[in-house]
Amino acid sequence: MNQAEEWKNLLVSVEDGIAILTIHRPSKLNALDNETLDELSEAFTGCFVEEEVGVIILTGAGEKSFVAGADISMLAEQGVLDGRLNSHLGQDCMSLIEAGPKPVIAAVNGFALGGGLELALACDFRYASSNAVFGLPEVGLGIIPGYGGTQRLPRLVGYGHGLEMILTGEKIDAEEALRIGLVNRVFPPEDLLEEAKKTARKILKNGPLAVSIAKEAVRRGTEMALEDGVSLEADLFGMISSTEDMKEGMRAFLEKRKPEFRGE
Ligand code: COA
Repeated sequence: MNQAEEWKNLLVSVEDGIAILTIHRPSKLNALDNETLDELSEAFTGCFVEEEVGVIILTGAGEKSFVAGADISMLAEQGVLDGRLNSHLGQDCMSLIEAGPKPVIAAVNGFALGGGLELALACDFRYASSNAVFGLPEVGLGIIPGYGGTQRLPRLVGYGHGLEMILTGEKIDAEEALRIGLVNRVFPPEDLLEEAKKTARKILKNGPLAVSIAKEAVRRGTEMALEDGVSLEADLFGMISSTEDMKEGMRAFLEKRKPEFRGE
């Protein structure tokens, strides 16, 4: 990833281990066209490999919108084959974010509709500004969510709440999103990014390999039967026990000092 690189629809900054990716298509309320999806995939891949980055925060430019959906003018042109392809293109980007080895926090600063909500769902957890609005309005456009929303939303908020949102297409506010577990916390708009950074800083104090492996254990394990999930956990526990970070973490505790993790 090159911070200085000229992205068309993204702003990228890295400071003190935190990468902030801001989707920037203000004239379209940050709607996702395929070019923006490509840029997101490229920027996330860059953040995942860049040693300097420990946590990624994803947000939208402006005060009104996180992402107002997939770009409807692009979807309006599609037929069966390119519809399927568009869905795969979006899904690939979401899966890349979800499976990445570093934590990703969505700072939802306004509309998170359709593909915007699906993008937030692919992040590890979500903080919202009090003016955020969530919804999967696709059925009202005669389509269904195609970037993983039919799968990730019910898995996160439960079948009933998920299907209610998908079948009605109705929008919910930040408080309701908090109530159903779609977001972890709600903040005044002016505090949202700083609060996300505070959490990022707490994560950054921990062993980076442990953080990464913990994410993997939860992400993969929750898709398995409990027996398989705990077995995966034991394997990963064994793996993390072979690291220098483990030795440093334990030694620092015993020596009553702060650990200095090197990610090794
Ligand atoms: N795709 C393409 N363009 C979009 C868009 C989307 N998903 N969402 C918003 N825009 C564009 C609008 O067309 C408008 O462009 P224009 O100025 O060239 O006409 C611009 O962004 C501003 O949107 P506007 O509708 O004027 O703002 P608003 O405050 O009145 O309404 C929304 C905001 C989010 C409620 C409304 O834009 C909306 O319903 N967007 C579509 C949401 C959606 O269905 N997403 C799922 C897509 S699968």
